[in-house]
This record gives sequence, C-alpha cells and structure tokens, in this order.
Amino acid sequence: MEYIDFENGDRMPALGLGTWKSAPGEVGAAVREAVRLGYRHIDCATIYGNQAEIGEALAGCVADGLVSREELWITSKLWNDCHRERDVRPALERTLADLRLNYLDLYLIHWPVAQRPGVVGPSSAADFLSLEEAPLAETWRALEAAHGAGLCHHIGVSNFSVAKLSALAETARVAPEMNQVELHPYLQQTCLLAWCTAHGVAVTAYSPLGSGDRVADLKAADEPNLLSDPAVGAIAERRGATPAQVLLAWALARGTAVIPKSVHPARLAQNLASTEVLLTPGDLDELAALDLDRRFVDGTFWVFEGGPYTLANLWDE
Ligand code: A2P
Repeated sequence: MEYIDFENGDRMPALGLGTWKSAPGEVGAAVREAVRLGYRHIDCATIYGNQAEIGEALAGCVADGLVSREELWITSKLWNDCHRERDVRPALERTLADLRLNYLDLYLIHWPVAQRPGVVGPSSAADFLSLEEAPLAETWRALEAAHGAGLCHHIGVSNFSVAKLSALAETARVAPEMNQVELHPYLQQTCLLAWCTAHGVAVTAYSPLGSGDRVADLKAADEPNLLSDPAVGAIAERRGATPAQVLLAWALARGTAVIPKSVHPARLAQNLASTEVLLTPGDLDELAALDLDRRFVDGTFWVFEGGPYTLANLWDE
C-alpha cells in the first residue's frame, strides 16, 4: 500500500473506500468487509446520509479485534449549511457521534459553497449564502479551532480551485493539507495537481471510476463511460488487470490518494488489489491522452438563476 505522508509524520493509506452513494442498509456490510480485506482508509461525509451505519460497522470492527482505531484513517466533510463559524463545531460533533469516534483523521470543507443553516439540498437561489456572507476564511478559522482542540488531526478542503486555495492561504494559520477533487483520465486536472504538489497540499481523487451510479439528476445524456473506454480496456488486458484496476493504478501512479466506492465484496477486493498493478510509462502516456476535461460532478446543482454561484465562479475557470 502506498501512503500520503503528512508533515507531522501521520500517513494516510493512499487507497481508501468511498462511501458516497453507498445506501444505508448496505454501507455497514461494505465497510466491515472492506476492513476485513485490509482497507484502512474510509472516506465519509455528512451529506452521504450513512455515517451512523458506518460508525456502527467501525465500532464492530474494533470491538471484534479486526482493527484498532489508530490503524484506521477516517475522513469526513462539513456540509454546506454549516459554514458559519459558530455552526462548524456542532456539525463536527454530530459527525463524530454518528461515526462513534472521538477524533477524525481528516476533516474537509466539502464544497466552496454555502447554504442557509438547515438547507440540506437547495431548491432556489434564496437557499444560498454568498461567499461574502459566509466567507471561506471564517469557515476555515472554525476548522482550525477544531483542529487545535484535537477533534480532527488534519484539515483540508474539497472541490477547491487554485484561486480559492491561494486566497485561503492568505489568512490561514494552519495550511490546508488536502484538496479532494474529481480526478480520472477524462478529467486529469494536471495544473491543479501540479499546483497542489508544489504547495504541499495532498490530493485525493474522487469519482475515480466515473461514479456511474449517480442518480439520474446528476447525469448528462451523452456521458462517456470510463470503465468501458477501449484504451483503458486494452491496457487492462496487457497488464492482466481489470479496467477499474487500471483507473485506480493510474491515480496512485500520479501520487494522489483515491477512494473508489463499492458495496460488493469481489469489487472491494479487486479495487484494493489495484495497489499491485504496475503501469508502464507507455501506459501512462496512453492514459494521459484520454483527457477530455470532462466533469461528471459538474456543480450545476449549485447554479440557480439569481443565486450567488455560477460554474465560472465555482471552478474559477
Ligand atoms: P458497486 O458499488 O455496485 O460495486 P466511483 O468510485 O467512481 O464513485 O464509482 C462507483 C461505481 O463503480 C459504483 O457503481 C460501483 O458499483 C462501481 N464499481 C466499483 N468498483 C468496481 C469495479 N471494480 N468494477 C466495475 N465497477 C465498479
């Protein structure tokens, strides 16, 4: 297993289990099976609506002696309706209670988007707070305080552009150590990755398999399918691997962490075994040529007429 190394000596296993879209009723068994197989990094978030079941599964794994808390790396994320400084700690405490933990290894601002308190899923422009009303610097200050109090050992962000990371760096006392973003061969984000690497911000790749199990509302009609891409398939055949393993090995070869989601034991095992798949420089060149600059999680769900967020100011592109 490769690791992402942090300045204080902590190490995050580079391959973790994604839990977005893992339904209550199946996520607990998936987490338990993943831990049994050897996964030590679980990626969670409040908005996934399944943290209580994950917490129960993790507590069971520890109680049964499968793993100790210290061997696990647990990430979670602050939802958009709790960005105001006073709302951050209560949100984190609810997450800790759900996950049955007394600290997180990593806590992230999920999106650079703020919603009014209590608005879980926005349905109109009025549901949002602009970044002037709820500045990311203030949200970050609250994460720093939680970090200082020992409730999360590392803090970072998700879905942040270089511009937003740079702006945050101007006021941050504790620098963000992670940016979790969508990354796969159709969305390689080479400039963002290079900037993060140069500035000591580790990167986690989400939707590494293309998140084909997104609800219909989050899918476009003409989406290309990463897992059935012919070039990915040809490389898989050459390496005696599956297409999913090639996609995950690509993410690891770029030095990012990667968090594939599955709720099926055979796929959980297959995905973990991608850490043993070695891609050649030629394979990497072929995969580099697949970039389409194509987001599957494109942020259009934050864009409402008259609202503060646009695709341009979300991604700063
Ligand atoms: P399932 O959970 O039924 O196994 P992403 O990690 O990009 O969000 O993608 C998750 C999607 O990919 C889910 O539909 C998941 O299905 C599927 N998936 C996970 N692992 C594999 C695999 N090894 N081969 C094919 N599909 C996979």
